[in-house]
Amino acid sequence: MSLVKSIEMLLKAQAGGYAVGAFNAENLEMIQAIVAAAEKAGSPVIIQTTPGTLGYAPPEAFAGAACALAKAADVPVAVHLDHGSSFELAKRCKEAGYTSLMIDGSLLPFEENVALTRSVVEMAGDIPVEAELGTVGGKEDSHSAGIQYTDPALAADFVSRTGVSSFAPAIGTAHGIYKDTPELKIDLLREINARVGVPLVLHGTSGVPDETVRECIASGICKVNYATDLRKAFSQAVRTALDNMPDAIDPKKFLKEGRAAVETRVMELIDVCGSFGKA
Ligand code: 13P
Repeated sequence: MSLVKSIEMLLKAQAGGYAVGAFNAENLEMIQAIVAAAEKAGSPVIIQTTPGTLGYAPPEAFAGAACALAKAADVPVAVHLDHGSSFELAKRCKEAGYTSLMIDGSLLPFEENVALTRSVVEMAGDIPVEAELGTVGGKEDSHSAGIQYTDPALAADFVSRTGVSSFAPAIGTAHGIYKDTPELKIDLLREINARVGVPLVLHGTSGVPDETVRECIASGICKVNYATDLRKAFSQAVRTALDNMPDAIDPKKFLKEGRAAVETRVMELIDVCGSFGKA
């Protein structure tokens, strides 16, 4: 159990027809909530941080908290760099103890994305690397894009030339808050899955109906990313707690309400992923 590389849990999920939830953490309380929810659910889990979060506090600080809690957990926990924005950041996260890395060259021309991703795979050694081709829409940190669907033939070429352990296709989801219900191309996902052997990753999942997420999992998705959903749950709970206790001066008093809300939400999302009891 405890701190593991993401690839072990993703290959198990691929074989078992379920997905592992990958939850973005912004602070200690969210890390605690994600681990506690996974333990209650008996589920593997991935804690991840974006470059924006790592600009707020450095990778060593997040790795320290996340890896310590992961090592003490009685379920498998991986600590992942989400949307790694440079070779240097990926290297720094690896050295800090992250057990999984994403390099996101999706806004680069194809050959440059291949070269950057390949260099990170070589640097990472036995640490698994996720990459993206095509663009998931919306805004994550300062990274903002329209949806550009992944070409299945290019995806197969990209995966074999880079040696990535997992692959994030663009099939119609977007990061952040959806104005309308997103329309996902499930047929495209199936085609990519048929051509690409590695586990597939769904980005931009907050706001995607649970039934659609389940359909994606049945079509090859093995890792499901949730960020906005948990940021909302945490912020709303802390806001309500502060309103209810205007004289509180101990941050633990109101932050623990945010932690409890995230734990509840992560348990629900683990259920959507189908990974209950799969630890
Ligand atoms: P959401 O914010 O839409 O959940 O997207 C999360 C994500 O894909 C992180 O990489």
